Amino acid sequence: MKDYNHYSLLAHNTFGMDVCADRFVEYESVEELRCFLLSPEAKTGRLLHIGAGSNLLFTGDFPGIILHSALRGIEVIAETDKEIWVRVGAGEVWDDFVAHTVRCGWYGAENLSLIPGEVGASAVQNIGAYGVEAKNLIVQVETVACQTGETRLFQADECGYAYRRSVFKEELKGQYIVTHVTYRLGKQPCFRLDYGNIRSELEKEGGELTLQRLREVIVRIRQEKLPDPAVTGNAGSFFMNPLVPDALFQELKRSYPDLPHYPATSGKVKLPAGWLIDRCGWKGRALGRAGVHPRQALVLVNLGGATGTDILRLAAAIQASVRERFGIELCPEVNYI
Ligand code: EPU
Repeated sequence: MKDYNHYSLLAHNTFGMDVCADRFVEYESVEELRCFLLSPEAKTGRLLHIGAGSNLLFTGDFPGIILHSALRGIEVIAETDKEIWVRVGAGEVWDDFVAHTVRCGWYGAENLSLIPGEVGASAVQNIGAYGVEAKNLIVQVETVACQTGETRLFQADECGYAYRRSVFKEELKGQYIVTHVTYRLGKQPCFRLDYGNIRSELEKEGGELTLQRLREVIVRIRQEKLPDPAVTGNAGSFFMNPLVPDALFQELKRSYPDLPHYPATSGKVKLPAGWLIDRCGWKGRALGRAGVHPRQALVLVNLGGATGTDILRLAAAIQASVRERFGIELCPEVNYI
């Protein structure tokens, strides 16, 4: 177990916030985690479990203990002619796992290539991109309860998965730590190409469709649109895509016939927040050291030396513009700490 006092979080948040935690603990086994959770310090102090810090915005120093998983391993636990079940440690880097599935010829995770973060977060955030969500692959989630240190297994249907949602970030927030996730992947060719320009990009290149080529196209599309956090601090999409009543969508469509939209459940329509923000004229603009990415308006960036408060000020100004122009409330996808 690694255990540090007064620890800089600069390398642990992709927004590049220069903040500190009172203490930083990284565990290498489930037993180490259980022992830590049952220790007196864990019972009294404020705890925050982080992954790669790619969906967080620290608004100041963290007065408590940050926990981080170093649980590794990718293990095949069951297999048929058609499918394979793979159990993965929560501390594995998500994209390393995706690269592994592609190398092994396992279908299902390739559309989620290059999403920053770790395997544990895939089960908490229900990460998604290009028509696929983690919930499409997750079979079960192994956890440890923060209060008792006991292990608890959640089947996928107990996880409350929906768009960027799970019980681990809502009803049971802060109560369980994900230690391993089991995914079900396919062994027979099955590609999802219907989102955005994936199909046309593949066709432009010609040649045979393979897992590796699809991964490469997705990586390229992401790199073209999204800033590299190693260069420009950011946390991917800052807001969620709003779900609006169909009646509001119909009304907006009369004024904005090109309004992109995706079908959603129960009489709602999902609209791209990036488009709404772009239409409000925010793309490429800045407020002080906080900016809106010039190629994807849904991504807020640290232009260098921004504080969490600078980013929050920009986020609030954007929310006000979208509210005023479209009557829509944008909700942050990023967690404010
Ligand atoms: N758009 C604009 N202007 C912009 C940005 C987008 O007009 O500045 C339009 C696009 O032209 C397109 C639509 O909005 O018609 C959607 O844009 P895009 O395909 O880039 O996807 P998104 O809805 O903005 C979501 C996810 C991303 C994910 C992509 C691809 C959310 C909050 N974001 O973005 O996830 O990579 O789809 O599937 O659902 C993340 O969560 O951090 C993330 C990057």
